Amino acid sequence: MQFFADTAEIDDIKELASTGLLDGVTTNPSLIHKSGRDFMEVTREICELTDGPVSAEVVALDHEGMMREAEVLRKIADNVCIKVPLTMDGLKTCNALTRDGTMVNVTLCFSANQALLAAKAGATFISPFVGRHDDNGFDGMDLIRDIRQIYDNYDFDTEILVASIRHPGHVLESALIGADVATMPPKVIRQLANHILTDKGIEGFLADWEKTGQKIA
Ligand code: E4P
Repeated sequence: MQFFADTAEIDDIKELASTGLLDGVTTNPSLIHKSGRDFMEVTREICELTDGPVSAEVVALDHEGMMREAEVLRKIADNVCIKVPLTMDGLKTCNALTRDGTMVNVTLCFSANQALLAAKAGATFISPFVGRHDDNGFDGMDLIRDIRQIYDNYDFDTEILVASIRHPGHVLESALIGADVATMPPKVIRQLANHILTDKGIEGFLADWEKTGQKIA
């Protein structure tokens, strides 16, 4: 399973990239706003920190506008992945860009039928938003299960990129279902490494080691 960081914060991306656990990055207009950075500039910096796909989202709503913006964004770096919304214009844009060899992430997916359309449009990634689905009284994980089944039924190559992840439980279930990618806030990536018994175990081992009076040198 690939791990993407869902952030535009350079320090977080640098730190996660240094662990070797980071496979890519996703951004969206809200994350760019939160970073306070210039969109083009911060996207260029992120692309230099990872060889993996870096999703940069268009804001135009019509096909022609999306194509124009995609043209600007894909010049930033070879690993830019154009993010388009799951609308008919977004799907048309996805089709045109992927035919051209450009990576496309179709975002704001809330139903399995939408995911089916994205796969038919040749999307590289489909982004179902599990957290926002949960927030609205649905089970985001049911959505991931349905998409996995549909994509397997028809051998679609589109990768399931689980988005809007809120906690490690979402990551665990996504992995059990067989989702291809999880994009997470840096905090959630770090939380994956935490366990109370790991902390207690380290504490106990260090206390006993101290008693031996030895040094590793
Ligand atoms: C995915 O690409 C989106 O940027 C993101 O996961 C949205 O998450 P949110 O629902 O926490 O805003």
